[in-house]
Amino acid sequence: MAQIYARITGTGSALPERVVTNADLEKIVETSDEWIRTRTGIQRRHIAADGQTTGDLATEAAQRALEAAGVKASELDLIVLGTTTPDIIFPSTACLVQHRLGANGCAAFDVNAACSGFVYALGIADKFIRSGQSKKVLVIGAETLTRMIDWNERETCVLFGDGAGAVVLEASEEPGIYATLLHADGGFKHLLYNPVGVSVGFKDDEPNHGVRINMSGREVFKVAVKTLDSLVDETLQAAGMEASQIDWLIPHQANLRIIEATAKRLDMPMEQVIVTVQEHANTSSGSVPLALDYAVRSGKVQRGQNLLLEAFGGGFTWASALLRY
Ligand code: UT7
Repeated sequence: MAQIYARITGTGSALPERVVTNADLEKIVETSDEWIRTRTGIQRRHIAADGQTTGDLATEAAQRALEAAGVKASELDLIVLGTTTPDIIFPSTACLVQHRLGANGCAAFDVNAACSGFVYALGIADKFIRSGQSKKVLVIGAETLTRMIDWNERETCVLFGDGAGAVVLEASEEPGIYATLLHADGGFKHLLYNPVGVSVGFKDDEPNHGVRINMSGREVFKVAVKTLDSLVDETLQAAGMEASQIDWLIPHQANLRIIEATAKRLDMPMEQVIVTVQEHANTSSGSVPLALDYAVRSGKVQRGQNLLLEAFGGGFTWASALLRY
């Protein structure tokens, strides 16, 4: 029997209308456009409107991906949605999106792997397709991370944005995803975390009930660069490929300096790297599929090219996918 691969047959994305520039943030906290640009590469970010949810953005991105793939929602047999900012605690955002799309009946669940959420979801979906369990799968990465922001805290408020991206994966005899790798190390929780929740409880005497991003930026930066270096080596090995065979690097968009370090490891010129961090900032799970959809729709990424997707985030989690588009 021929090997079954999972192929991306459509991509889509969605961004909130409201754009906040670095200059806008200069009016809120003690920061500067110059600091934000040179330390992170970020110039602006999209911020969800009041009442606009992760599920709203996810649904919009999913509809575009389904349209691009020419697949009806009713044909889907699985929806996997990466998010760390679900609309409500349950049902999962995947279930909310499933109903809005009209895909009722298929399996649907969320994956919380922080910024690696979409790549984790893609890895899971790939296994469902390879095993023959699923034929048409919707994979989404969607976030409204700015809902966790303390707008008085300059260390974090300049870094994040909201957005969503999606892909339709279909079973095919043509490659396809060659390899996906998923990793985590919960021993690093203290460097990047949100301290409250249903089980631990909320802090009613703190702004936003204690919901906030705690990040030791410099430490996260160092571990991210080192971890992504070994991740790309491991991914090439798993796919049996050389770095020179990769046409595009589509990395998690947290910091331009981290992206540049990974490109250097691969000996890739920045012309072969998709960079959207200047427009979107860090959208967590939304970041990789937003960058992928931009790359496809702008005509940069072409059919038959090899793409290396990677992400790193809270947990720590880190994940990659090497695929032929
Ligand atoms: O997506 C999940 C994973 N997350 C990441 O990958 C983020 C990884 N970390 C980073 O991207 C970077 O570490 C940051 C962008 C968060 C920070 O850059 P950095 O070069 O590591 O700066 P730093 O944290 O070492 O801070 C340098 C200085 C400090 O001042 P002192 O102590 O040198 O006087 C900060 O107080 O910059 C100051 N600073 C700011 N200044 C202006 C921190 N935030 C700001 C700000 N505006 N917004």
